[in-house]
Amino acid sequence: MEQIEQLKEQLKKQEKLASLGMLSAGIAHEIQNPLNFVINFSKMSDKLLNDLIDIIEDNEDKLPEADREDLNDIVADLKENLSKIAAHGERAISIIRGILLVSRGKDDEYIPSDVCHIVKEYVWLSYHAMRANYKNFNISIHEQYEEGMPMMMVVPQDLSRAVLNVMNNACYAVWHKSQMVPEGYLPEVSIKVGLTPNPIAKGEETFFISVADNGEGMTEEVKQRLFENFFTTKPVGQGTGLGMSITRDIIENKHGGKITFDSHLGEGTTFTFFVPVRK
Ligand SMILES: Nc1ncnc2c1ncn2[C@@H]1O[C@H](COP(=O)(O)OP(=O)(O)OP(=O)(O)O)[C@@H](O)[C@H]1O
Ligand SMILES: [Mg+2]
Repeated sequence: MEQIEQLKEQLKKQEKLASLGMLSAGIAHEIQNPLNFVINFSKMSDKLLNDLIDIIEDNEDKLPEADREDLNDIVADLKENLSKIAAHGERAISIIRGILLVSRGKDDEYIPSDVCHIVKEYVWLSYHAMRANYKNFNISIHEQYEEGMPMMMVVPQDLSRAVLNVMNNACYAVWHKSQMVPEGYLPEVSIKVGLTPNPIAKGEETFFISVADNGEGMTEEVKQRLFENFFTTKPVGQGTGLGMSITRDIIENKHGGKITFDSHLGEGTTFTFFVPVRK
């Protein structure tokens, strides 16, 4: 009975999440249009400013020295402001594209994706969610993304879910340890993404995503049961024990990849996804 109750609770939560996903997709879509206006008008204003500069230069001799200097300063400031408006607008647009990709992508749709970008976005999403939910959450994050990686065929909303799961676990492991051994302990999570020279299948290019934490590590029992449905060591309400089984399904069954892990009790855990590059 208790388990049925728990399952009901989980279902309720998942329904809420699904409608939250739809809501955020709707909002993201609505915000995209006005943001495009902001960016386009700032670019247009920049062009107008260039015309203005031409006119000023043509009439330079008609202006007193002091006014000319003031004008140049003002024009320079305006140019800088406009480029900031455009740059931050683009940043907001790219965040919104990320949200739309995740909440709108069709099931099992493989699309060419910037894996580093996806990982980065979800690493920070997890970080901020943990910060909001756990008190004294203070950890450092190290990131290492291989440059110039080609676009990869993946199911973005699934891959991001897998990243979110292991990142949440890593953050929890370091946070939980920091609550136990506060003295001199520096909680850290390191993320690496790149191509690997050791492909999981011959002739197939493979990329990897690794998430390493210096958290509490796992006991032998936990290592054995890690991928079981509903296996969790977390208190009620903080874990459902589905994260790793979903993650394995995504990486191994959907993407034909492999998950490995290395964990030492009291020292930390590293999870690595190896995924063959689909062409
Ligand atoms: N990085 C880690 N460090 C230490 N223990 C871990 C780590 N990742 C997973 N575990 C252990 O594996 C268990 C199962 O993980 P899993 O992600 O499947 O479930 P969960 O995190 O407990 O719940 P959720 O369904 O919310 O993810 C965790 O409860 C924890 O004991
Ligand atoms: Mg988890």
